[in-house]
Amino acid sequence: MATATTYILLIFFITTPFCSSSELTDESFMSMLISQSGLDFLKQLLVNNAVASITPLQLPQIEKTVKIPFLGGIHVVLSNITIYHVDVPSSYIKPGDTGIAIVASGTSCNLSMNWHFSYGTWLVPLSIADSGHASVQVEGMEIGLTLGLKIQEGVIDISLLEGGCLVKDIIIKLDGGASWLYQGMLDAFQGQIASAVENAIAKALEQGVLKLETFLEGLPKEIPVDDTASINVTLVNDPLISNNSIGLEINGLFTRTEKGKVSTVFHKNSQSLVSCTNSPKMLGILLDEAVFNSASALYYNAEFMIWTVDTLPDQAILNTAWWRYLIPQLYKKYPNDDMNLNISLSAPPVVRISPHGISATVYADLIIDVLEGGNLVPVVCISLVIRGSGSVKLVQNNLAGSLQLDDFTTQLKWSQIGKLHMYLIQPVVWTLIETVCLPYANSRLGKGFPLPIIHGFTLQNAEIVFSDSAVTVCSDVTFTDSYNYSRSLGYPSRWIQKLL
Ligand SMILES: *[C@@H]1O[C@H](CO)[C@@H](O)[C@H](O)[C@H]1NC(C)=O
Ligand SMILES: *[C@@H]1O[C@H](CO)[C@@H](O)[C@H](O)[C@H]1NC(C)=O
Ligand SMILES: *[C@@H]1O[C@H](CO)[C@@H](O)[C@H](O)[C@H]1NC(C)=O
Ligand SMILES: *[C@@H]1O[C@H](CO)[C@@H](O)[C@H](O)[C@H]1NC(C)=O
Ligand SMILES: *[C@@H]1O[C@H](CO)[C@@H](O)[C@H](O)[C@H]1NC(C)=O
Ligand SMILES: *[C@@H]1O[C@H](CO)[C@@H](O)[C@H](O)[C@H]1NC(C)=O
Repeated sequence: MATATTYILLIFFITTPFCSSSELTDESFMSMLISQSGLDFLKQLLVNNAVASITPLQLPQIEKTVKIPFLGGIHVVLSNITIYHVDVPSSYIKPGDTGIAIVASGTSCNLSMNWHFSYGTWLVPLSIADSGHASVQVEGMEIGLTLGLKIQEGVIDISLLEGGCLVKDIIIKLDGGASWLYQGMLDAFQGQIASAVENAIAKALEQGVLKLETFLEGLPKEIPVDDTASINVTLVNDPLISNNSIGLEINGLFTRTEKGKVSTVFHKNSQSLVSCTNSPKMLGILLDEAVFNSASALYYNAEFMIWTVDTLPDQAILNTAWWRYLIPQLYKKYPNDDMNLNISLSAPPVVRISPHGISATVYADLIIDVLEGGNLVPVVCISLVIRGSGSVKLVQNNLAGSLQLDDFTTQLKWSQIGKLHMYLIQPVVWTLIETVCLPYANSRLGKGFPLPIIHGFTLQNAEIVFSDSAVTVCSDVTFTDSYNYSRSLGYPSRWIQKLL
């Protein structure tokens, strides 16, 4: 049960850490909502796993001396009592004020055991012994547990508030021998077997919750995106538990993988918590536009966005001769010299999200360098403000996107060769953006970044909803118990291996 419990809970909690800290409003830029259907999915996973991990379950040996009229005391030993099959026909999960209740009712299980007895009395001086095998059927078990859910130091902390198992009915059948003779005697053990089953299952639940707790505690607070960046998935504030959902708030910002780098301060723009009301999905993940802007600030500061263009599909452009008519002064001063284009961001790109979609404004400087006698001579610098609109999609559990050029403006920042006719240069710049900058940006954006989803879970049938300052992914999830899967996604498999 423990393992199963662990698993189910995992699903819920993997993605979200909580903070039971006294501050009421730690800012969170991502939030997650697990709806009733998501909770049901997790519950089922938990139950299936619990059943798989609980069987076979060995119970302690039972022995006692039974007094039988005329015969006296008979010493009976029940050994190798094993629960080998558990059937959970129905169960439910219910979040509430006092915790999250998971209840399985009408559960039955099958046990096998060996029995052995012996007696000797003054009437029958020689000791008599017999042994055999029995099967036990336990019906109508009620199993329930209530879990407390808190955020502690940025991770989910679950605790078992209550848990137990109640056996309603038990039937013992002996196989072979003079079973009829002993059946009545064994029936005297019903109560003891029932309480052994109850104790064993309650203990398994306890262990399962402990295991889950340990697993959740060990979940990383950062998910690596690449060598430069991670996403801070520290949970903040208390979990938001309603009668049919659990909400978790996540810091959600990109942070520099190397320590010691001060990050920009962001403020949350979107007010709303996750809402997937138009599409009843298992899971909703809301990302404030600050998440995207933290990424843009991070990569800008990491100086990732400077690059030199020295090869182009049309290489002729990188020679002053090609520019003869567009910038005559350039050709005049540096006839037939090779050129480099140095493109760098001059400020972090700004991402805006509205109900219509996502857009980005990119500020860049384009420096034309001429190669003269082996030296690079910067000749002209043009400031660009590029506006693009984005589309967003899911690639497995990564939120990926692409950018499309809407318009741009150019302005001469400085020049060593006097004034230029910007309108002549604009079409060339357009081509450069379309053929060099956008494909580069889109190759990066196309990989996306991982959403905080626990290993083994995959988003499915996702819908992406834009709202004011936020984008929400509303999705169902599936669970694939494949170790390999985790390699490409957020949480490393060792977190899962710990659990299993
Ligand atoms: C104990 O029970 C299990 C399950 O029924 C069985 O596989 C095993 O052989 C039994 N062991 C002994 C010593 O009877
Ligand atoms: C458990 O016991 C019930 C009742 O005897 C029986 O119908 C069922 O097949 C058993 N299950 C297994 C797996 O042995
Ligand atoms: C959950 O709470 C809402 C209002 O808080 C109520 O309308 C709804 O009926 C409740 N649902 C259940 C299943 O109790
Ligand atoms: C991650 O988020 C938590 C909670 O907001 C914050 O306390 C912590 O400093 C953040 N970590 C980094 C590396 O920014
Ligand atoms: C490209 O431009 C940036 C920013 O102006 C500058 O720091 C860098 O040295 C330039 N690189 C080349 C190769 O011109
Ligand atoms: C998992 O990865 C290992 C090594 O990378 C590979 O040999 C194996 O075939 C993979 N298994 C699956 C199911 O993809």
